[in-house]
Amino acid sequence: MAVPVRLASCSSLALLLVLLTPLLASACDRCVRRSRASYYTSSLTLAGGSCGYGAEAAAMGGGFLAAAGPALYRAGVGCGACFQVRCKDSKLCAAAGARVVVTDRARTNRTDLVLSSPAFAAMARPGMAARLAELRTVDVEYKRVPCEYKHRNLSVRVEKKSRAPAELTVRFLYQGGQTDIVAVDVAQVGSSNWKFMTRNYGPAWSTSQAPPGPLQLRVVVTGGYDGKWVWADREVLPRRWRAGEVYDTGVQIADIAQEGCYPCDTHEWE
Ligand SMILES: *[C@@H]1O[C@H](CO)[C@@H](O)[C@H](O)[C@H]1NC(C)=O
Ligand SMILES: *[C@@H]1O[C@H](CO)[C@@H](O)[C@H](O)[C@H]1NC(C)=O
Repeated sequence: MAVPVRLASCSSLALLLVLLTPLLASACDRCVRRSRASYYTSSLTLAGGSCGYGAEAAAMGGGFLAAAGPALYRAGVGCGACFQVRCKDSKLCAAAGARVVVTDRARTNRTDLVLSSPAFAAMARPGMAARLAELRTVDVEYKRVPCEYKHRNLSVRVEKKSRAPAELTVRFLYQGGQTDIVAVDVAQVGSSNWKFMTRNYGPAWSTSQAPPGPLQLRVVVTGGYDGKWVWADREVLPRRWRAGEVYDTGVQIADIAQEGCYPCDTHEWE
């Protein structure tokens, strides 16, 4: 009698594992990935990078910028995402690594991240930065982490090609948390006649049917496994908005979107 019982419990354990594995593999804020990372000797490359942040890039990562390979760059959707990246050589590298923000597309397939040289140096143990720099490319592990902008709200820059009143392109800056913006609507303040905007490229969204200002915005971000509205229901763009200006939305995003991976890293790197 014992044998069939053991078989039954074995197979139900197996079944349980089969059922649980996707659940275990799903709920993760911090999936750790392994790759190699190199660095740019000039930080100009990254500030003027494909994400189009321009002058605002320097303020975004405190100089710790990165270009992302295709899997992280995601045709521009990955712009503004923050990563904690650390190198694996424990003699040269500190356990906390460096926090970087993606501002550019990497022009190489050999590494997932190309860091700004200050970010690369920041991965080193005290006094080891010069030796780390000599290696040029190192094995790293990294994970997406929430972006923290303590002294800034989510902001939009009205892009130069905008033509008031109807042709409007905005680029999102200083997006906190760990989410992707997946939809953007614009309406006149006080109106519920929302016009959707379409992703132009990366963090830039456009419409050729913007209502007359002043304008409010609402965006959908990924949060957990679902979407969530973030609503800037006050005046974001004034009646006479101007191309080239940066406007504060008055809101910030702190949500964290989850990824699927197993095992999930639950430790802080410090
Ligand atoms: C990267 O890989 C893709 C295909 O996997 C290839 O088409 C492309 O040329 C590669 N780019 C570089 C810079 O090696
Ligand atoms: C963010 O927006 C709020 C209004 O919602 C405002 O009171 C606050 O000063 C803004 N913060 C910054 C850092 O600009």
